[in-house]
Amino acid sequence: MPTSNPVAPAAHRAGEGPVPPHYYRRQIFFCLNERKGGEDCCALHGAQAGFERCKSRVKALDLAGPGRVRVNKAGCLDRCAGGPVAVVYPEGVWYSYVDADDIDEIVTSHLRDGQVVERLLLPPEIGR
Ligand code: FES
Repeated sequence: MPTSNPVAPAAHRAGEGPVPPHYYRRQIFFCLNERKGGEDCCALHGAQAGFERCKSRVKALDLAGPGRVRVNKAGCLDRCAGGPVAVVYPEGVWYSYVDADDIDEIVTSHLRDGQVVERLLLPPEIGR
């Protein structure tokens, strides 16, 4: 059965029919993981500030809510070497950011306008 939701995928696996519409148009997850004993982690590289900046900008631009954007905390996303990291779904685009300007660009370009911020992409080989 076709759906009228513009953000819903056309179908999932063949023969299984359409998937329900996405509850959020885009969802961004920020790793806020903090390791004990000073071991390197996203929390040591400004992850909390990035998360809070993103929440604030999404709210200020009136982007938050069902059918729109959701900003979430996450634990370790296992790509620590590129930290701080965040990932945007449904596209599955990974970012590494440094400051508030980076977050603002992710919010306006990707979360609002759907344009990937190439300069902030986490290289695919970056893992733990
Ligand atoms: S500590 Fe952030 S990805 Fe692992």
